[in-house]
Amino acid sequence: MPRRHTTSSVSSIPPETAATFRRRLHRWYRRHSRDLPWRRTRDPYRILISELMLQQTQVSRVLDFYARFLDRFPDLPTLASAKPHRVLEAWEGLGYYARARNLHKLAREVTEERAGVIPSDPVQLRALPGIGAYTAGAVASFAYEKRAALVDTNVARVLHRVFAPDVAPKSGAGLKRLWQIAEQLLPRTGKSTWLHNQAIMELGALVCTARAPRCGACPVRADCASRERFVEE
Ligand code: ADE
Repeated sequence: MPRRHTTSSVSSIPPETAATFRRRLHRWYRRHSRDLPWRRTRDPYRILISELMLQQTQVSRVLDFYARFLDRFPDLPTLASAKPHRVLEAWEGLGYYARARNLHKLAREVTEERAGVIPSDPVQLRALPGIGAYTAGAVASFAYEKRAALVDTNVARVLHRVFAPDVAPKSGAGLKRLWQIAEQLLPRTGKSTWLHNQAIMELGALVCTARAPRCGACPVRADCASRERFVEE
């Protein structure tokens, strides 16, 4: 099938399509989402720790480490004043230790240069050690309920399958397109954006999984450009 808009760099999702997608996704999230500790807080420090831990580690593993880390370092000033080896020790077992080193640097920088306040603006967040585009969007939307998009591996897979099966989701151009789609799907308010972003991630984690997507349980199946591609067992 010929692609529409091949000459345009930004093709848009029709507003009605976006609205239907959101309505179905949000209703599903309210019924099926997991009760996770970082969804019960808006504390930017706690959100930041959870998002850094979740970057390369499964939720089930993070749950344990998250609680223990916060017992040891309950707030940003405590973390900032800790000895580096204590921070690494608390991270031990999670792997990808650059995350812990960057987190410690970030705590010191925010304490010294920003009066201990983690920024809410994605652009300012990205200037901090170890914070990429995804984590910036996650902290802005999950801690501050800002209207900010986010795309990680799970979200990229969902958006690729539903809206853009013709892009290569791991290429630079593909990711750029998926970020544009994520922006176009955002609800109007920051408060709804919190739920919306959690919901896309949850759909990717529970239903639209990498290997065996559970299309029969998918709330946006009717709107999905890949619905014929997967045959359920
Ligand atoms: N992975 C990254 N962020 C997450 C979140 N907020 N909830 C569940 N899994 C996640």
